[in-house]
Amino acid sequence: MSNLIVGLDLGTTKVCACAGRKTKEEKIEVIGVGIAPCSGLHHGIVSNINTAISAIELAMSKVELVVGQSIKNVVVGMSGKSAKGTSNPGVITISKGREITRQDVNRVIETAKMISLPGGTEILHSLPQGYKLDGQTGIEDPSGMYGIKLECDVYIVTATATVIKNLIRCVEKSGYEPTGSPVLGLLAASHSVLSNDEKKLGVSLIDIGGDTTDMAIFIDGNLHYTFSLPVGSSHITTDISVGLRTSFVEAEKIKISAGSCLASLVEEGEEVEGVSLGDGKPQKFPGAAIAGIIEERMEEIFLLLKAEMKGVKGLKAGVVLTGGGALLSGIADLGQQVFNMPVRIGKPMNLIGLSETVDSPVYAVATGLLVYGIKNQTRHLPANPINKIGRGMKNFFSDLFE
Ligand SMILES: Nc1ncnc2c1ncn2[C@@H]1O[C@H](COP(=O)(O)OP(=O)(O)OP(=O)(O)O)[C@@H](O)[C@H]1O
Ligand SMILES: [Mg+2]
Repeated sequence: MSNLIVGLDLGTTKVCACAGRKTKEEKIEVIGVGIAPCSGLHHGIVSNINTAISAIELAMSKVELVVGQSIKNVVVGMSGKSAKGTSNPGVITISKGREITRQDVNRVIETAKMISLPGGTEILHSLPQGYKLDGQTGIEDPSGMYGIKLECDVYIVTATATVIKNLIRCVEKSGYEPTGSPVLGLLAASHSVLSNDEKKLGVSLIDIGGDTTDMAIFIDGNLHYTFSLPVGSSHITTDISVGLRTSFVEAEKIKISAGSCLASLVEEGEEVEGVSLGDGKPQKFPGAAIAGIIEERMEEIFLLLKAEMKGVKGLKAGVVLTGGGALLSGIADLGQQVFNMPVRIGKPMNLIGLSETVDSPVYAVATGLLVYGIKNQTRHLPANPINKIGRGMKNFFSDLFE
């Protein structure tokens, strides 16, 4: 299988690899999925390289077993507060009477990229947010048109160089080669869980992970804003463990088996079995109290995100929730109450093959990286392999189409 693409999602609680390819019928087929628990990253940053390497090796070996071949290249994702976005305008003039070329479009993006970045940061993505030609707005792609002044607002996603280097190092030390710089996890996920219509209408994609909750806002089809909150679903587990006086492991079991985001959904007198801390004796905990703990923390997370969305107008498609934290029962209802807009759970869409295996918000980023890798490979692989070498690994993926 020569055209195999592998997405590698490096999370706080797990590493997930997803292998697939584009079929002759232009469908995206998931061929293998490998998941391994991981505690080697915190807030998207490598905190224990050996633990992270072991998890990558395990997840990748699972995928290799399923696909029946060894894998070399992987599309690596990154999340967390190290990745930051900012919008910057670019402007160029075109000589009179000439058609705008793809090179001109690249040139206007390059001018927008000329911003002074804080020391030690690198650009991950430069995403055009629409063009203006001689003052006329609403131009999706100006190439082939006539005009003199070409302007473009570009959303530039940067990340700390050391964070990027250590993620890449982890992957390389595990025996794999990243296809380029890491891809912003939610940008990737948008390719697998959001429809184009949602992105055009305006949507907030929220990934509730282990120790981070990341948000990406899409307006008019383009990435418009990103934000990362250093609080995730593991914090709920800690709250339960403190509130019920149980171990973290026990609290995690309780959260997954019986947790609900809405205390009002819990039946009166409902009890959940668990083991208390210290004596390890079985105990019954009131379901309503557990839901109360979960609701309080989840509401706090949503309110913080809502504050970040305040200045954004036109989220007509509402909110889409992904990540393991989105599996909590009642979370969409709670989200709807807090955000006061439609909320749905985002699962990977439009995939064939092992689509049932990845039919969960947990796989949003890994499948997104697969789709992102396939789209970039087919749309931007230079015809001449020499060009590819010339452009260098870092620019191997172009973000011109987002
Ligand atoms: N069925 C479930 N019900 C409730 N919560 C769940 C369920 N399954 C997983 N979770 C929670 O989801 C969280 C992990 O989510 P996810 O796998 O998206 O995180 P991650 O990608 O490893 O972390 P991050 O994105 O923060 O780096 C954990 O806190 C876990 O408790
Ligand atoms: Mg994650």
